[in-house]
Amino acid sequence: MVGVVLATAGSAVGLGNVWRFPYMAGENGGAAFILIYLGCVVVLGLPCMVSELIIGRHGASNTARAYQKMGEAGGRKSLFPSFIGSLGVLTGFLITGYYAVVSGWCLQYVYASVVGQLQGDASYAQHYFEAFSSSPVMPVFWTVAILVLCHLVVCRGIRHGIERASKLLMPMLFILLLVIVVASCMLPDAGKGIDFLLKPDFSKVTGSVFLGALGQSFYSLSIAMGCLCTYASYYSRQTNLLGSAVQISLVDSLVAILAGLMIFPAAFSVGVSPDSGASLVFITLPTVFQQAFAAMPLLGRIVALMFYLLLTLAALTSLMSLHEVSTAFFHEELHISRKRGALIVTVLCCIIGTFCSLSLGATGSLSFGGRTLFDWFDFVTGQIFLPIGGFLTCLMLGWMVPRKIVSDEFTNRGTLPRLHRLFPVYLFLIRFVCPLAILVIFLNQLGVFE
Ligand code: PHE
Repeated sequence: MVGVVLATAGSAVGLGNVWRFPYMAGENGGAAFILIYLGCVVVLGLPCMVSELIIGRHGASNTARAYQKMGEAGGRKSLFPSFIGSLGVLTGFLITGYYAVVSGWCLQYVYASVVGQLQGDASYAQHYFEAFSSSPVMPVFWTVAILVLCHLVVCRGIRHGIERASKLLMPMLFILLLVIVVASCMLPDAGKGIDFLLKPDFSKVTGSVFLGALGQSFYSLSIAMGCLCTYASYYSRQTNLLGSAVQISLVDSLVAILAGLMIFPAAFSVGVSPDSGASLVFITLPTVFQQAFAAMPLLGRIVALMFYLLLTLAALTSLMSLHEVSTAFFHEELHISRKRGALIVTVLCCIIGTFCSLSLGATGSLSFGGRTLFDWFDFVTGQIFLPIGGFLTCLMLGWMVPRKIVSDEFTNRGTLPRLHRLFPVYLFLIRFVCPLAILVIFLNQLGVFE
């Protein structure tokens, strides 16, 4: 896999793979859910991903401009493409701030597992997390720390910064994952956890399970956040875009399934019922690792440390891709150096991150409408901007841009003859199937079908 494609895989592999996918799979029919999820990835995720890669590589510039160039490729001037592109940049930018907060928590937990602060029972773990995440100082410190780390990588550019970091971090992540999977699956009663994740139960599959799988596949593949488009602007003209999209999706899905094999066997072996989200990784799992390896406490601590390192790596590579979206934008649009662009992003995201972090308990004044500022960012970007961006991208490539331009990018100007036959399938999917499916998830999330 080429460096920048690997970096794109790094963007896709993130917290969503570890804290959301396994639980969704376990709750919604195990292998049955996994099959549906993979179906969503192939039929909907891949075409949307390829569309963004096409726009990014064609434009070879930041997301807003790349959309504009694609829109103008047919000779028509319209503001619509730049609007979609700018929305992508805005989405990426807003996510950077709050994703940094959670990434910062991962760093705190790496530190906590090194100094042995995570030793205690379930109520201790809960108290520890609540006290930490609502405190005004430490979470803000870690948020700024991870953004600075990201800044240092992004400043060095694509080849020497992001690609190099990904080539080092991604294999490390994979090795840590495999080691923990093996340790977890060797525990007594691990089979129950494996059953929970993999045993197919088609009776649990309902309409909302389909929609859940669809939403998860979009989030997990980093679709409509500007990341794919921005990274694709650095792809070479020879890169097979569909082939790369398939590789990225495979890596992403494999990591998600392995994450399940890392979490559930350990949780079931000590009789703890797993959940999802922040409470799974920051409250449930510290006690699980401790109890599961009670006979060998040192091993328990090492596994916990490896787990939080893995989580930090997954978060960091995603954060880098988000940071790059806005850095490329400021660098090109404001005609300033890359370093300056990156600095603007880092400073602004530190401010957003600080407010998001403080809204989680340090002060009540940052909550409104029943949600904290942190939740608002999550809601607006993930549930509103993401579907709108994905929907409009499909419509733009499917209906507005001349077919010849899209097919030239898809087949690398006809040099990939095998892709010629697939082009009509791709076009059909982005013209009809994807927009319709995205519209349905969007309306469902807004509660229209309830
Ligand atoms: N795809 C990442 C995950 O699975 C999340 C993410 C979304 C990262 C958007 C970057 C951009 O967690």
